[in-house]
This record gives sequence, structure tokens and C-alpha cells, in this order.
Amino acid sequence: MASQKEWATELRSYLPWTQSPLIVSAPMGGFAWSPLATCVSLAGGLGLIGCLNDMAQLSTELTQARSTFASSFNPSIQASKTLPLGVGILAFICKIEDVVRVIEEFKPAVVWLFAAKQLGDYRGWIEALRSASLETKVWVQVGNVESALHVAKHARPDAICLQGADAGGHGFEKGAGIISLVPEAADALKREGFGHIPVLASGGIVDGRGVAAALALGAAGTVMGTRFLASKEVSIHPVAQAAVMEAEDGGQVTKRSKLFDQLKGPNIWPEAYDGRSLVTQSYEDYISGVSLEEIQKLHNEAILEDHRGYSIGRKGRAAIWAGTGVGIVKEVEAAADIVENVRKEARGIMSGLRDFQATVSAEQLIP
Ligand SMILES: Cc1cc2nc3c(=O)[nH]c(=O)nc-3n(C[C@H](O)[C@H](O)[C@H](O)COP(=O)(O)O)c2cc1C
Repeated sequence: MASQKEWATELRSYLPWTQSPLIVSAPMGGFAWSPLATCVSLAGGLGLIGCLNDMAQLSTELTQARSTFASSFNPSIQASKTLPLGVGILAFICKIEDVVRVIEEFKPAVVWLFAAKQLGDYRGWIEALRSASLETKVWVQVGNVESALHVAKHARPDAICLQGADAGGHGFEKGAGIISLVPEAADALKREGFGHIPVLASGGIVDGRGVAAALALGAAGTVMGTRFLASKEVSIHPVAQAAVMEAEDGGQVTKRSKLFDQLKGPNIWPEAYDGRSLVTQSYEDYISGVSLEEIQKLHNEAILEDHRGYSIGRKGRAAIWAGTGVGIVKEVEAAADIVENVRKEARGIMSGLRDFQATVSAEQLIP
């Protein structure tokens, strides 16, 4: 198995503007557009645009990102051979040929794939993307050990993001938190001969403590979604952002459920997925036995209002995707400040641990 240091060197070879530890903003579909992704990359992270299935909109966002980078004075951004950001693709709703055309034109540093109908679909995606843009690396996000092994064996991605059950938004219904998922998956990958594929961690990481912990678990880098819902550049309804800011005690005020994908109508997500949202009135009704039909009717009326069905106080009808880390997120900040402060905090914790190690070593010298 390559060491974490070797993984970090490899990642930096194609993300040369990034600083360690690697902080990635998640491709939150419909929320993470060019303003967020470019700010994250310009601050030394990797920004990912979260695309739904509108390729014209994706092209517009990438054009905007290209012009933002072109006017930046950051020499490592200027020196990048690829567009210094990534694009997140929901594989179950996008067509390979449509995505490939955009990737061929813009050559982003990374394409991130998630939620293919079948794990076996990733191979075709990765082959097509690599032939469209040799320079672009392809990452896949999965949520359990079995999927990580399957994807490594059959699709050979350039990195795997291990998404823990605390994550906001969609994820594997059958999964675990990163504290067990990351080491177990990394061990299994190593055992099966895939230890060279860098693993990243996502799910519940919102600050430097989470980043340092993920590195201690064996990850080469970290991905945060929920933390960036409290950024100035995210595209989010103000009431939904207020609900995120108000939330406390993330394990109680968020819930994983397939209900959130049934609010508009039939659930289009692949069977293996559910999603974590703030608890809403729709969810409370569901638990108390109100019929799905009634919940959908109330939801579909509410989303026509100015508030789009969002509310604070867990009273809204629409899902507000957020992870359990939401209780730690207290302030809306510029994305660049989030990246820089989280990185600084993680570095501080790691050097604190080095001091701790010195104490342990000194103790061992005492007979
Ligand atoms: C609002 C929101 C939207 C998301 N949308 C996507 C998406 O479109 N594609 C994707 O791969 N992941 C998506 N995710 C999941 C992220 O990739 C990531 O796993 C998650 O944000 C990590 O957990 P955290 O939110 O606790 O940081 C979304 C997450 C959130 C919070």
C-alpha cells in the first residue's frame, strides 16, 4: 500500500495549486456552482461543481469558472494544465455521451462520479471520460467496503471517496460512519492489491478537528458539503440556510430516510440510496402515520410559495439536505475563509499531536 505521504504526492501532482491537508468542497447538485468551486480552489482546496443533468448549465458554469481563473493572479492556478476544479456527476441521471462532450471541451482536473444505477456502470463512465480528456482524473464516491472494492477492481478510479453515514444529502442506505468505514475499506483495498488508490473521507467533517481525525483514520484528503452550505458563495434559499444555521445536535435534528426522495412524487434514486436531511414537518407527519399521498400534496403546494417549502423550527415541507455536523456550523463565512481556517486548525491539531507524542516518548524513557 502506498503511504499517505505517497498518496498526497500523487494528488498534488495533478492538483498542484492545492495545499495540505487537501480540503475538497462537495459537488452539491444545485448548490455548488462556479462561485463556490472557484473560491475553494483559489484558496488552495479543490472546488467541485455539483451538476444535475443540465449540460448547457454546466457549460455556462465552467465558462464562468474559466474566466474567474484567467483573471486570478495565483501562479499555481495559472500553471495548472487542467481547469483547476472538479465536476460532480450523478451517474444515474446523466448520459455518458453528453457529459463527455463537456469534459472534452473544459478539461477539469477531476470528474467525481456518484450514484450510478449499478456499480458495474462506473467502468464505462471512466473509460469514456479518460478517452475524452487524458489529463482529467476520475474519482468515485461510495459508502461501504463492498462498493469500494467493486469499484477499485472493475473501474480503476484515480481515487475513491469513502462517504460515511453522517453525510448530508444522498448516500448509501447501508453504510457506516467514517471512523470505521475509512480504516476498514483502506485495509480491504490494500489486502486486494488496490492500496495504491488514494482514499478520501466525507461525511460529518465540518472543521479542522474532523479533518485531522480523517487523516488519522488513513484518508489522503477530506470532503465537506454541509460546512459549505454556510458559505457566502453557495446557492441556497435564505430560509434553508437559516435552518442550517439554527440546527443544533446534528444526530437529532437530521435524519436519513427515503421519504425525502418521495416528497415530489416517485423516488428516482437507485435502490441502494437514501438521504440525510434536517427533520421537517413532512418527516414528522410520516412518522405519525399521515399518508404519503397527503404528505406529497402538502409538499407540492408548499414549494410553490416564496419560501419554497423551507422553514426554520423543523416546520418546513421540503427537504433541507444536511449532515450530522450541522450542529457545529455556526456562522456563514466566505468559502476561502472556511478553507483557510479549517486547514489551519487541522495543522494546529496535528502539531499538537506531535507534542503529545513527545510527551509519550519522554514518559517511555522514565524507568
Ligand atoms: C446539500 C447537499 C447536496 C449534495 N449533493 C450531492 C450531489 O449532487 N452529488 C454528490 O456526489 N454528492 C452530493 N452530496 C453529498 C456530498 O458529496 C458529500 O458526501 C457530503 O456532503 C459529505 O458530508 P457532509 O455534508 O457531512 O460534509 C450532497 C450533500 C449535501 C449536503
